[in-house]
Amino acid sequence: MEVKAAVAYTPGKPLTIETVQLAPPQAGEVLIEIKASGVCHTDAFTLSGDDPEGLFPAILGHEGAGIVIEVGADVKSLKPGDHVIPLYTPECRQCDYCLSFKTNLCQAIRGTQGQGLMPDGTSRFSIGGDRIHHYMGTSTFANYTVLPEIAVAKIREDAPFDKVCYIGCGVTTGIGAVIYTAKVEPGANVVVFGLGGIGLNVIQGARMVGANKIIGVDINPKKRELAEKFGMTHFVNPQEVAGDLVPYLVDLTKGGADYSFECIGNVNTMRQALECCHKGWGVSVIIGVAGAGKEISTRPFQLVTGRVWKGSAFGGARGRTDVPKIVDWYMDGKINIDDLITHVMPIERINDAFDLMHRGESIRSVVTF
Ligand code: APR
Ligand code: ZN
Repeated sequence: MEVKAAVAYTPGKPLTIETVQLAPPQAGEVLIEIKASGVCHTDAFTLSGDDPEGLFPAILGHEGAGIVIEVGADVKSLKPGDHVIPLYTPECRQCDYCLSFKTNLCQAIRGTQGQGLMPDGTSRFSIGGDRIHHYMGTSTFANYTVLPEIAVAKIREDAPFDKVCYIGCGVTTGIGAVIYTAKVEPGANVVVFGLGGIGLNVIQGARMVGANKIIGVDINPKKRELAEKFGMTHFVNPQEVAGDLVPYLVDLTKGGADYSFECIGNVNTMRQALECCHKGWGVSVIIGVAGAGKEISTRPFQLVTGRVWKGSAFGGARGRTDVPKIVDWYMDGKINIDDLITHVMPIERINDAFDLMHRGESIRSVVTF
């Protein structure tokens, strides 16, 4: 069938709206009509050409929501008409990773997904017979896309697509890091580095679980107001702190953070996030994606004396199990997504979404079809 997609042909160049051929879903796959998709920093990172694993040409996008239109052979858990969120982290419930119950990093289709292909090693997308790569297994910048059944979360039908698409990445990444990765307990003191689309979701996750102090750190004072609305109790602008930031944060938390979260992607703030944690038990979670080739450092004594350094991908959430619950939290008013979606535009204007992101003017832009 013919679909409308934003194609990334060349690193560093804008996307091009094209008519693309989409082959039908094969065994274990489903065809999804994408209704809305968020535009995330990870899409921009790959489009920039800095992502060493980026493939071109490709249809980017990994934060979508839509409706199942057709299912391939052997598909059991989904049927046409189901409302769904595509998952770049699948959940097969059979691999060693899934069965460990210690990680959300299902490996069932890892190899082919990284190559921009479906599990049988081919692409469903082409133009004039030439292959177009899938991206993160999701390719949500197209009005129709094909995904493996194990990479699709079924959600309730009354949830608005142009809001809950954000649960496909940013919301779950932030809230999940609090709930599933760090398991923050009521009364904990939390420090959040970076108050963008990820950090604000960490803040509302911390509020949801009943954290005590929720300290936001950002060099942009304009981030303060919205962060307070989401539950931040103290704002720290590192440029206004006389002296070192780490002792200042340790003092503010009366001994150090119980949990800290790095939501910037900067290796210097990753170190500060670890070192502002409480001696003996503080846990620091890295969420931000650092540039290719970057390395983190600290004195080993920081870990010997009980601080823990962790990372979190997709918030540690198991997509098919946890994403429907997060949609419920949104529908029940427990979490706020509406105030984070600052711009909505048709897919034809997707390049504006990247411009807004680069200028720091959006928290999240959503494209609709
Ligand atoms: N110290 C404090 N705050 C900083 C610093 C710094 N050195 N550098 C940037 N910031 C702040 C910015 O002012 C901004 O508010 O970090 C925030 C980052 O927010 P966004 O640009 O909206 O990024 P976000 O979408 O939240 O993603 C953050 O996670 O998904 C990854 O690749 C993404 O690494 C990025 C990170
Ligand atoms: Zn993302």
